[in-house]
Amino acid sequence: PLHAVGVDLGGTNLKVALVEREGGIVQSVSRPTGAERGPDHVLDQIADGVAQVLEGAAPPEIVGVGIGAPGAVSLDRTTVREPPNLPEWRDVHLPDALGPRLAARGVAVDGPVIVENDANAAALGSAFYGAGRPFDSFVMVTLGTGVGGAIVVNDRLFRGSTGAAGEIGHMSIDYEGPYDRAGVSGAIEAYLGQRFLSHHARYQLLARETHLHQTAGRDLTDVTPQHLHRAAVAGDPAAREVLAWAGHKLGVLLGSVVSLLDIRKIVVGGGVSQAGDYLLDPARETIERFVMPPMLDGVEIVRETRGNEVALLGAARLAFEHHEDRPAQG
Ligand code: BGC
Ligand code: NA
Repeated sequence: PLHAVGVDLGGTNLKVALVEREGGIVQSVSRPTGAERGPDHVLDQIADGVAQVLEGAAPPEIVGVGIGAPGAVSLDRTTVREPPNLPEWRDVHLPDALGPRLAARGVAVDGPVIVENDANAAALGSAFYGAGRPFDSFVMVTLGTGVGGAIVVNDRLFRGSTGAAGEIGHMSIDYEGPYDRAGVSGAIEAYLGQRFLSHHARYQLLARETHLHQTAGRDLTDVTPQHLHRAAVAGDPAAREVLAWAGHKLGVLLGSVVSLLDIRKIVVGGGVSQAGDYLLDPARETIERFVMPPMLDGVEIVRETRGNEVALLGAARLAFEHHEDRPAQG
């Protein structure tokens, strides 16, 4: 059976998995990205992660290493440009940077190192193995440290003229709004990016009566979207309000997305999406006010069911697809 390695290079954690063609995860590891320590450190972490998932397991053929990385990725799927959530990264050619590091760890991979934007990778994973399966065309939104997006049209990624299509996180919903890390005012990432959302929650809820004071520290310094979700499930009105606020922002953005593309299926993934309907119901209500009625028919916002796994699976998919597209040998 064919195997590939998938890497999900997040702003906070990086995950590596050994994946089967049918989408089974044989082995996976997660480690802190350590992005603040610069590209060399992160590249070493990736190489260590790959070596670790291959240790012990020795499948006959690894068709390649696929990597989902934040930021714009070159059309030829080799180079990460300037990801807002990975400081100091500028035009890093991943096959060149990882090849020697893998070799130094005794890792032999038969196929190439292929990189794609992380949200694009998540969309591929969702289309083949996740909530995107029933849809020919859909928009993927990933809510993590950054906010990512991808456009799938007739089962193929729409990549744009440079490969960066679908950078939803830096689309603005208010030109006078707060700045995201890429310097865009009112960008959706400046509201829903994990750290921005946590910050907002903290200042909204500090003086409120809320379960969060027990779970996320008295001064809410450590509040995360997971805390918000758990408090919301437990019936905490303050946490529900914050998630509804975020869902409303998301709905405004998705209204523009649907109006532009006339694609009516939206799959929402990433850690923040664990808040589920506390986040998505307000988005569903809001989108109706931002889309012309005839375009609302069939609009659906669904949550990715395979969670963060889709990014890993989609990254591995890149390697499988490359392998299957290669000209027959002999
Ligand atoms: C980046 C995107 C990425 C997203 C999720 C954003 O800040 O610009 O390229 O997909 O974060 O990591
Ligand atoms: Na994208």
